[in-house]
Amino acid sequence: MANYSVTVRVPAKINLQLTVGPLRPDGYHDLVTVFHAISLSDEVTVEAADGDSVTVTGEGADQVPADRDNLALKAVSALRAVTALRGIRIPDMAGVAVTIRKRIPVAAGLAGGSADAAAALVACDELWHMGLSQAELCEVAAGVGSDAAFALLGGTVVGQGRGERLTSALVSQARYHWVLAFADGGLSTPAVYGMLDKRRDGAPVAEPELSNELMAALRAGNPERVGKSLSNDLQAPAVAMLPALRHTLDAGLDFGALGALVSGSGPTCFFLARDASHATDLAVALSAAGVCRGVARATGPASGATVIDRAGIDRVGG
Ligand code: C5P
Repeated sequence: MANYSVTVRVPAKINLQLTVGPLRPDGYHDLVTVFHAISLSDEVTVEAADGDSVTVTGEGADQVPADRDNLALKAVSALRAVTALRGIRIPDMAGVAVTIRKRIPVAAGLAGGSADAAAALVACDELWHMGLSQAELCEVAAGVGSDAAFALLGGTVVGQGRGERLTSALVSQARYHWVLAFADGGLSTPAVYGMLDKRRDGAPVAEPELSNELMAALRAGNPERVGKSLSNDLQAPAVAMLPALRHTLDAGLDFGALGALVSGSGPTCFFLARDASHATDLAVALSAAGVCRGVARATGPASGATVIDRAGIDRVGG
């Protein structure tokens, strides 16, 4: 079969702020979050085929559904629905073989699944010559996962609603050096939100607000202040469900991290280092302390989903 394919690189995210409001009637929570894309990334290739399929390789591949439940395949279906609505003709071979090369751990609070969905959208938009705008792609992405729209944009962005309403944040050009500590096993996002609700025990919950402190720190590009301003309402429930995370967070702070936080619904913890060499020291120390399954260094902000390779595309569709 002809080799018409597009490959997209897509970043993981961490949340520098994650403030969770009341539970909504639709089962989601309104939130205010500051998304930050980091240099840890997955690569997703879509190739024209007779039917849809997905193959997953790399970090945690056996935990990713390789059927219709796969978020990348859901994204492909959602995009196909848009083409039908708009009368856009997809080339004859309208199926896609999706290959996901994972480096972002699964169920880790790093939005790897949403990232793969975003990558599949960008890749199919290109494969099928759709030419959708970023706003249109964001709309499709939002229907697939709460964090998928952000993975299209990358950078440092404020998210509202259930995380899909995005506005760019006024930040400096600063580059931050992060260390990630991966945990054994994953945490289910709905379960962590459920634990938060349980701990709140029906008490009134304020509407979430953006942290002025964090935004000022990001505008100044000052890592010390950013480190002190990190916050996540899902951290306490995640630690309650996986108490070992407390040791991981404390170890990072003992080794001089400027800030430490559970990422999203966990269980990955991230630490802000002063600079590149401090990040290396911190990563080595955390690894040696035996407080996590593995460590990785990353920088941020990183770009959103980006096409890095295409083959035979000019001959598809038209
Ligand atoms: O949208 P996504 O599939 O990533 O969300 C997974 C689950 O996380 C939701 O079903 C919901 O239980 C929880 N969630 C939430 N509020 C949000 C985002 C996610 O309660 N803003």
